[in-house]
Amino acid sequence: VIDIRKLYAKTGKFTYDPAFTSTASCESKITYIDGDKGELLYRGYPIEQLAQNSDFMEVSYLLLNGELPTKEQKDKFMHDITYHTMVHEQLNHFFSGFRRDAHPMAIMVGVVGALAAFYHDSTDISDERQRIIASYRMIAKIPTIAAMAYKYSVGQPFSYPRNDLSYAGNFLHMMFSVPCETYKVSPTLERAMDMIFTLHADHEQNASTSTVRLAGSSGANPFACISAGCACLWGPAHGGANEAALKMLEEIGTPDRIPEYIERAKDKNDPFRLMGFGHRVYKNYDPRATVLRKTAHEVLNELNIKNPLFDVARELEKIALEDEYFVEKKLYPNVDFYSGIILSAMGFPTSMFTVLFAVARTVGWVAQWNEMISDPVQRIGRPRQLYTGATRRDYIPMDKR
Ligand code: ACO
Repeated sequence: VIDIRKLYAKTGKFTYDPAFTSTASCESKITYIDGDKGELLYRGYPIEQLAQNSDFMEVSYLLLNGELPTKEQKDKFMHDITYHTMVHEQLNHFFSGFRRDAHPMAIMVGVVGALAAFYHDSTDISDERQRIIASYRMIAKIPTIAAMAYKYSVGQPFSYPRNDLSYAGNFLHMMFSVPCETYKVSPTLERAMDMIFTLHADHEQNASTSTVRLAGSSGANPFACISAGCACLWGPAHGGANEAALKMLEEIGTPDRIPEYIERAKDKNDPFRLMGFGHRVYKNYDPRATVLRKTAHEVLNELNIKNPLFDVARELEKIALEDEYFVEKKLYPNVDFYSGIILSAMGFPTSMFTVLFAVARTVGWVAQWNEMISDPVQRIGRPRQLYTGATRRDYIPMDKR
């Protein structure tokens, strides 16, 4: 029997790196994370400064183009995005094909992939102009599709986009306005939504972004690639974590039950993990969680909500950060820990949380996809494997098995 592991080790031709914890698959100039310092930079700018001073459209321009826009560049960019906010009317029929109780992420995966069937004029990836239009279409249409998925689930008519509103404001309008009432977007909630979009816009080579790049490396059209990104993001260890974090806080219910859950998280015989804690790269505080803790305060104040889950969350954070297990393993709250509290206060059902993440991350996916397509050294992605199955053997007829 050939020991393939030894062979690989001897030839030195392969790196066995399960889950790619230490293998770079590409060069990138978009996002930088220093996990030990708890630092996140978009094109060199610290996330805290962007969250404080910028807005999602400006951040989108920055991620796509590498520099902050001038006023004219930003106006032009916003014009180009708003030009594409509507979806093909025929696409509306797709929604009625889904069950009303379908998870909105299932709808997202299907409808985003279906865009390629409607926008043939932006699927030729060898044409730079088509790539740009596809990028704008994706960023512009994803909130429309997300809001339509929600409206369909609650049995309300779709709300058409309003291009006089900001990206976040328009999204809130499409989500929550109904034809029989005038909907006024609250500036605090619009700002919080914009902040959540900004904080989730990109995060270098995470699982869904790597999925988008890998799908794109075969030459697949961008709509198909973003649909693949949505599918990957849906997993509970990735974009599904804020939904899981909120469910966990609800299950804990009151601060006195926290120690019980802390003990469960430490018990290796119990699969339970503290959702919203820990990160593959951050081994210090996730800077996005700090910003969101503050935003959670603001949103709850604005809405005059006394949410006991926020108290549970803060107490859980305090206890975990003093616990030897969490300190030793460098487990800190991540971006998902507080975002669920904010989103539910704003009126989003938990099933929409991952959808919102997908809306925000689309700009990162699109920026990373464009960077990959323009990179001359990129070829079709094709990870190798360390084969550990049977060595060659002869077929055994049925009566001899
Ligand atoms: N609660 C309890 N223990 C944990 C947790 C947690 N949330 N996270 C990690 N650990 C422990 C593991 O049991 C493991 O212990 P061991 O060394 O004794 O075996 C150790 O810490 C390392 O954990 P890994 O799973 O190997 O770390 P990895 O970097 O692969 O995982 C992940 C990162 C998936 C985020 C993990 O921390 C986790 O499952 N967290 C909860 C889910 C979550 O919040 N996901 C959101 C990620 S952020 C995002 O996608 C935007």
